[in-house]
Amino acid sequence: MRLTRWSEDDFWLLEACNTEEMTAFLGGPESAEKLKDRQRRYLDVSMPGRMSVIVVDDGEKAGSIGYWEHTEGGETFWETGWAILPAYQGRGIATAAIAEVAKAAAAEGTHPSLHAYPGVDNAASNALCRKAGFTLLGPRQFEYPKGHWMTCNDWSLDL
Ligand SMILES: CC(C)(COP(=O)(O)OP(=O)(O)OC[C@H]1O[C@@H](n2cnc3c(N)ncnc32)[C@H](O)[C@@H]1OP(=O)(O)O)[C@@H](O)C(=O)NCCC(=O)NCCS
Repeated sequence: MRLTRWSEDDFWLLEACNTEEMTAFLGGPESAEKLKDRQRRYLDVSMPGRMSVIVVDDGEKAGSIGYWEHTEGGETFWETGWAILPAYQGRGIATAAIAEVAKAAAAEGTHPSLHAYPGVDNAASNALCRKAGFTLLGPRQFEYPKGHWMTCNDWSLDL
């Protein structure tokens, strides 16, 4: 498994992840316009952090993962988020991808921790955080997407 920087050619991956099944814990599928905005953000190299495509050993693209800055209460952390296409789930790919993102975020040397905020009902992502070595700080309200409040777990990994 390796991570490659998000490219113009990867828009199909956003579309493939924009299903009811894949967005069940993320507020549902996004509009075509929102997906285009997302593509623009993922390509923007001026933003701190990086969005990557997860490429598996046979060269196939299996999903996405990234890290970006999240500021609240006067503090800035790295935040991460991920999606693995259904055909590739259950093979440890997300666990390996998180380890790579943690290495990249640590190498930036700017923030001491990497956070993830899966919905409390997202069993797979919560299991993944635990397996990847994150510490559960507890549940809290989180606005995602904008205007949609959900109860999320705040998981933190010391870098
Ligand atoms: C969450 C997601 C990325 C997991 O990817 P994955 O590559 O299948 O995860 P892994 O194979 O690395 O599994 C990690 C752990 O999670 C557990 N897990 C995976 N799916 C699970 C499920 N449905 N219920 C409970 N645990 C689950 C696995 O058992 C594994 O632990 P184990 O190996 O000790 O048993 C994938 O299901 C996904 O993309 N879901 C939709 C998008 C999404 O919810 N994104 C996250 C928003 S925060």
